[in-house]
Amino acid sequence: MPKSANSSPALHHLAIIMDGNGRWAEERGLPRVAGHQQGVRTVVEIVDECVAQGISYLTLFAFSSENWGRPQSEIETLMALLLEFMASQRQRMLDDGVSLRVIGDDSRLSDEVRTALRNAEQDTASGSRMVLTLALSYGGRDEIVRATRKIAQRVAAGELAPEAIGSADFESTLDTAGLPDPDLLIRTSGELRISNFLLWQLAYAELYFVDAYWPDFGPVELRRALDSYRQRRRRFGLTAEQTAEGEGLSNSAS
Ligand code: FPP
Repeated sequence: MPKSANSSPALHHLAIIMDGNGRWAEERGLPRVAGHQQGVRTVVEIVDECVAQGISYLTLFAFSSENWGRPQSEIETLMALLLEFMASQRQRMLDDGVSLRVIGDDSRLSDEVRTALRNAEQDTASGSRMVLTLALSYGGRDEIVRATRKIAQRVAAGELAPEAIGSADFESTLDTAGLPDPDLLIRTSGELRISNFLLWQLAYAELYFVDAYWPDFGPVELRRALDSYRQRRRRFGLTAEQTAEGEGLSNSAS
């Protein structure tokens, strides 16, 4: 059916940069770890709300390539929280039909964390309501470089001609292969940048920045962001008339 000029854009994939745990804690005179602990509670609430809202894909930036430069004690805390999250949320993910996926350079993770993540991915693989992707030890540039190496290997092996390389080769080689591009990116804590997150995939995403620190971001704030998204008119480089007439443009172009 042709899309009406007034219809809201579909939201299949929501990506979130969860920022501000440290400042939330510091402003309360608490150690940074308290902010991360509260941040995990927010993750649980937001995953629930996304399932309730019928969102099919949720991707959370949980630990960046650059976060390896943080004090060792903070890294250890974050990894411990992650292990705790896997253990405490496993049954809930199974009950709610959430399948877990992890993207990023897992070679830097400890064996314990890597094994827990792989087990959780396998255990929840049949979940069909929502794919929860955690970006861990993740950087968008690093992901593109790793994908380029794999494509170059195919070229060197004579499987792919350089002039035949297209966007689809990148899409199927990036960590996010098989996921649709995010429709909406939310970043909390008032920072107005994307900080090396999903650089390829966010090309046409709508952006939403909110001042609340991640521990203060809850279902109400999420619904506000979704309302804002529903007011947007996505054009993917086309004219307003073309996008009003077109069918399925968001799938092919985003
Ligand atoms: C940004 O806050 C947040 C992080 C670097 C880590 C996000 C991690 C969690 C919410 C908890 C673990 C996640 C899961 C999925 C179990 P910041 O520390 O950069 O805050 P600041 O900018 O105020 O210092």
